[in-house]
Amino acid sequence: MNHSISLTVNGERRDFVLDDPRVTLLDLLRERLHLTGTKKGCDRGQCGACTILVDGKRINSCLALAISHDGADILTIEGVARGDQLHPVQAAFIAHDGFQCGFCTPGQIMSAIGMMREGQAGNDPERIRECMSGNLCRCGAYAGIVDAVLEAQAGADEASQRRSA
Ligand code: FES
Ligand code: FES
Repeated sequence: MNHSISLTVNGERRDFVLDDPRVTLLDLLRERLHLTGTKKGCDRGQCGACTILVDGKRINSCLALAISHDGADILTIEGVARGDQLHPVQAAFIAHDGFQCGFCTPGQIMSAIGMMREGQAGNDPERIRECMSGNLCRCGAYAGIVDAVLEAQAGADEASQRRSA
């Protein structure tokens, strides 16, 4: 039996007919929309390579059934830049050598953006490590990742102070 669902992906509404209700958001994004920035690492919720935002919250898309998220708003790594202007977290990853092979990087960046939106970590490196502990990096780029998140967080704090001044 076929199932129809609609998602808003990176600001665009997309309709799908699923012939298998077990298809995950990760496979839908990669195979049907060819949004291959979101990576498949472990495919079992253990590495964070597949992290995306669903309705503003970060999740492991390899564990999420697409059918359970009918109507959801999805943000993937392809949707975070504004044209040629990188998202501040992306720019900070480049500035701080937050990646080597880059395989974990999209998931790390999505997780950092989600964490900042949650208002979880503030400017505490230990807390950032803890909040991003579900995102593994085989290259061990953790020091650069934490520095990048600290810089992006400081920029976000400054922008919000300017807005409220
Ligand atoms: S691929 Fe989803 S957590 Fe590893
Ligand atoms: S940069 Fe290679 S796995 Fe993280």
